[in-house]
Amino acid sequence: MKFFIDTADLAEIHEAKDMGVLDGVTTNPSLMRVASERAGKPLDFFDHIAKICNLVSGDVSAEVTAVTFDEIMKQGRELATIADNVVVKVPLILDGLKAINALLQEGIRSNCTLCFSPTQALLAAKAGAAYISPFIGRVDDISSDGMKLVQEIIEIYTIYGYETEVLAASIRHPMHVLESALMGAHVATMPLGVIKKLVSHPLTDIGLNKFMSDWEKFEQQSDTPQS
Ligand code: E4P
Repeated sequence: MKFFIDTADLAEIHEAKDMGVLDGVTTNPSLMRVASERAGKPLDFFDHIAKICNLVSGDVSAEVTAVTFDEIMKQGRELATIADNVVVKVPLILDGLKAINALLQEGIRSNCTLCFSPTQALLAAKAGAAYISPFIGRVDDISSDGMKLVQEIIEIYTIYGYETEVLAASIRHPMHVLESALMGAHVATMPLGVIKKLVSHPLTDIGLNKFMSDWEKFEQQSDTPQS
């Protein structure tokens, strides 16, 4: 399973990369706003995405901010010039599907975003999206079942052999990651906080403390002259 970080914050991307588990990055307009606020200055979108693409060798999703076919195509083509690892993030609307297919004809890969139903995901695969992004947390937020959405998409894609990769998105906690992994999602994109939570286990901490204190005692014994 590939791990993407869901952020546009360069420091967070650096931190995840240094952990040795990072395969790619997903961004969106809201994450760009957060990164710009944290930087304390307006960021140039293209320049910023280029910096992210230099940081990681895997795919970097950069989202269009358009809702008509012509505009999505224009922005998608521009974004694709930034780097080879840019994937154009396109909303799951009629013009978006049309653009995903047209971009593919030009060799430009897309991540179909804002997916909330398995039939939407079926359309994205038929249009030729490289990735489909079901938003698990946002489905859970309206008292529905985000994981069931992922499960059904994987089932449909497996039945028909679609190559579109399932990118579990809007991940809020480690259980979303565990269940996505068990279901066979190709990718999980998550905030840095969730990646860090995956590392922690109280028994690891207890075990480590015991090993450290026993090692200290062992060294003290070795330093004590034998009578
Ligand atoms: C994915 O590509 C989206 O950017 C993201 O996962 C949305 O997450 P949110 O629902 O926590 O905003």
